[in-house]
Amino acid sequence: MPGRMTQRILFVCLGNICRSPSAEAVTRQMAETRAMSLDLDSAGTGNWHVGKAPYGAMQTAARSRGYDLSRLKARQVSRGDFTRFDLIVAMDAENLADLKRLRPQGATARLALFTDFAPQTGADHVPDPYYTRDFDGALDLIEHCAQGLLAQI
Ligand code: 4NP
Repeated sequence: MPGRMTQRILFVCLGNICRSPSAEAVTRQMAETRAMSLDLDSAGTGNWHVGKAPYGAMQTAARSRGYDLSRLKARQVSRGDFTRFDLIVAMDAENLADLKRLRPQGATARLALFTDFAPQTGADHVPDPYYTRDFDGALDLIEHCAQGLLAQI
């Protein structure tokens, strides 16, 4: 992604109410601390929660670490995202497979798995806390991945 001052990164999960909005908020806060200029957003492959704020228990866990998710609104991934963003970061293999299937001709965005930025964790996906109920564990992993991502760009 050389040549662009502000890198544009989209985080993608299934519902856009737990993992990807958390990844967006955590990465934004870490980037601000490092005075890095990034254009960040998140979206879901599914459309069930479009227009809704992040899941309540996710917001609560994030807020206890200083991340405010309250103003985010779920949206679905669109074809335009594949040229609007430099990098699209998936939370798990299913998200990545769905993104590859949705990717239009002429797409310019690179696709990546968030956990690939934190190999030291041994994780190969961010488990969905909507199902595991481990919101703090998800945030721990997201923080490691965000640190690794920022170290690489
Ligand atoms: P997320 O979690 O992908 O991390 O936002 C989900 C939340 C809700 C649903 C799926 C995933 N759902 O099907 O309702």
